[in-house]
Amino acid sequence: MAGLVKLIVLGSTISSAVAKCYDPTPAFPVPLWEGTTNGLESALETITQNLNKLAEDSEYDTSSFSVEVTSDTDTLWTHFHTARKQNETRPGVRHVDGDSIYRIASITKTFTTLGILYQHTAGNLSLDDTVDNYIAELAGPAIGAIPWNDITLRIMASQLSGIPREGMAQADLMNGLPDPTAVGLPPASMVDLPPCYQHPDFSPCNRTGLLDNLNKRSPLFAPNQKSTYSNLNFELLGLVLENVTGVTYSEYMRAAIFAPLSMTSTSLSTPPSDDHAVLPLGQFFWDVDQGVHAPTGGIFSSSRDMSKYARFILAHSNALAPGVNWLSPASWSTDTSSFYGLPWEIFRTSRLLQPHSSRPITFVTKSGGVPDYFSRLSIVPEYGLGLTVLVGGNADLLEQIQELVTVPLIRAAEAQVWRDVADRYTGTYTATNSTLNSSIELASSAATGLTLTSFISNSSDVFATLLPLFNGAAADGTWRAQLVPTLLYKNETTRQGEIWRIVIAAEREGERADRPIWDDFCITDVDTVSYAGLPINEVVFWHEEGVLELPAWKVSMKRAREGAETLVVQGGLGAM
Ligand SMILES: *[C@@H]1O[C@H](CO)[C@@H](O)[C@H](O)[C@H]1NC(C)=O
Ligand SMILES: *[C@@H]1O[C@H](CO)[C@@H](O)[C@H](O)[C@H]1NC(C)=O
Ligand SMILES: *[C@@H]1O[C@H](CO)[C@@H](O)[C@H](O)[C@H]1NC(C)=O
Ligand SMILES: *[C@@H]1O[C@H](CO)[C@@H](O)[C@H](O)[C@H]1NC(C)=O
Ligand SMILES: *[C@@H]1O[C@H](CO)[C@@H](O)[C@H](O)[C@H]1NC(C)=O
Ligand SMILES: *[C@@H]1O[C@H](CO)[C@@H](O)[C@H](O)[C@H]1NC(C)=O
Ligand SMILES: *[C@@H]1O[C@H](CO)[C@@H](O)[C@H](O)[C@H]1NC(C)=O
Ligand SMILES: *[C@@H]1O[C@H](CO)[C@@H](O)[C@H](O)[C@H]1NC(C)=O
Repeated sequence: MAGLVKLIVLGSTISSAVAKCYDPTPAFPVPLWEGTTNGLESALETITQNLNKLAEDSEYDTSSFSVEVTSDTDTLWTHFHTARKQNETRPGVRHVDGDSIYRIASITKTFTTLGILYQHTAGNLSLDDTVDNYIAELAGPAIGAIPWNDITLRIMASQLSGIPREGMAQADLMNGLPDPTAVGLPPASMVDLPPCYQHPDFSPCNRTGLLDNLNKRSPLFAPNQKSTYSNLNFELLGLVLENVTGVTYSEYMRAAIFAPLSMTSTSLSTPPSDDHAVLPLGQFFWDVDQGVHAPTGGIFSSSRDMSKYARFILAHSNALAPGVNWLSPASWSTDTSSFYGLPWEIFRTSRLLQPHSSRPITFVTKSGGVPDYFSRLSIVPEYGLGLTVLVGGNADLLEQIQELVTVPLIRAAEAQVWRDVADRYTGTYTATNSTLNSSIELASSAATGLTLTSFISNSSDVFATLLPLFNGAAADGTWRAQLVPTLLYKNETTRQGEIWRIVIAAEREGERADRPIWDDFCITDVDTVSYAGLPINEVVFWHEEGVLELPAWKVSMKRAREGAETLVVQGGLGAM
């Protein structure tokens, strides 16, 4: 025994002697909501009431909004609000519903990136090719100060190119200020900028104007050093798509994305009729053709269509292109909880579930804003949920709706998850071979996830023998043995097994003032030691049979239903 112990300690300490990880995530398999709001009803009712109350404010008299929550298969909930005051000459839609159309602005960037991923998969381009391979004007001696031959398509889609934010007059204050000298700016004219995308008519800019202007510009940062938001990245990626597909950007979007996803209300040009148009009073941007800027913010869409898109993203997140998970961070943003994906804007917060759990929740989002239209698509992969918020009118509504919807929704989803886990997994499992004294007890709670509370193998108490030797099992015993889903399955002809792993999660001692700074450092390391070639911490649930299998331990255990109820969620998350 002593020899074995030493070996395991050696094997397990090499990679992560210092790692202390508190709240493994994902802590549960993606819930199967399908079409049901099972367990979410009361939260959704509260959300409806709060959104109604929010909209009553006279500040929002001229604002409309559409909000939809979808699972990976079905829309679960919708909420629509129509502005109380509309333009009587040109009102647009009189009653907002799921087919009402807004400008979704920069959510367009995710569509452009999806097109690039498709072309990467098709072999028509490589994400790691530099952009000058596909845009002739960015190659050769005439180019300016930006090192295009160091800027790859992947770097651009991840907001890491370091190129300027805007092309030409986009976001130029000449466009926004009636009299720049009134705020202390010197007199100026637009002479250095091509005469497009400017007040009052916003005529569309073209490729020539964009690239000529760009070759006079300087970078902000060296490529691949520091992320910063840039619309130009996506305008150029749009040109790259046109280069490799040989069709216009809008035709490619229609053929490759809108049509296959049945996004019938989605387009790159202003819809021919106002029947479904959300036209907030005072708006002037609905009819603007974004021209060469379109791949960064030109799409028109409805919440119903955005839910279709969200379902596609939930179902295909990691399987769009080999080697690419566009929902994962590609770089950090400014603080510790915000990241750029490809080109998603990722928010990870450990505050949402507190005080029940400090487990981080990840929102993969993309926001958009053009004059009078503000939008955000949020994907919450762990819960299998997608949220669309489209606003026409007051920009303040977007953040308020986001907070009012996501906080109660995710807390309710979390509570439902742990009710389901208690129902499906917790309880006592005993060896199917009754001559063997082997058993496991599983408990669950929002705070601790699905945990082993007892593990006897052939009369040995594994909590006393092997588990203390696992990675991260501090000698003082402040740890738990938690099961985490791998999201993989053992597929057999007649049954399917769900594969989990046992990990050691450190128990938090609360927020002591003298907690070491490096206590926040966690190097995830799930695969510990093996036994006779099999991973010792692998657990397979064969749900149909109520059986838990530990392959390395060569044992199957059957669940006794009684006991499950006594081990359910602590803390009453469900009441939130
Ligand atoms: C694509 O770009 C390459 C490199 O600039 C160029 O040689 C080619 O003609 C372009 N193809 C199309 C269809 O624009
Ligand atoms: C491109 O736009 C410029 C103005 O920015 C205009 O002078 C030029 O004619 C346009 N070119 C084409 C091909 O439309
Ligand atoms: C790859 O490029 C060719 C030529 O431009 C185009 O015909 C084809 O449709 C592209 N493949 C895909 C999957 O878009
Ligand atoms: C109302 O619509 C008309 C026609 O489009 C437009 O001329 C007018 O400026 C709009 N008024 C407001 C306040 O939006
Ligand atoms: C049950 O376990 C005993 C040892 O405890 C073993 O001898 C026997 O072969 C096992 N039976 C089966 C069916 O695996
Ligand atoms: C159970 O433990 C005994 C020793 O106590 C050992 O001889 C036997 O092989 C073990 N059986 C199994 C199935 O693990
Ligand atoms: C099974 O093993 C455990 C741990 O050694 C022991 O406490 C328990 O009494 C045993 N049960 C039986 C039925 O032998
Ligand atoms: C097992 O089946 C699931 C669908 O139930 C599928 O998603 C998965 O790819 C399959 N896994 C393997 C290894 O075939």
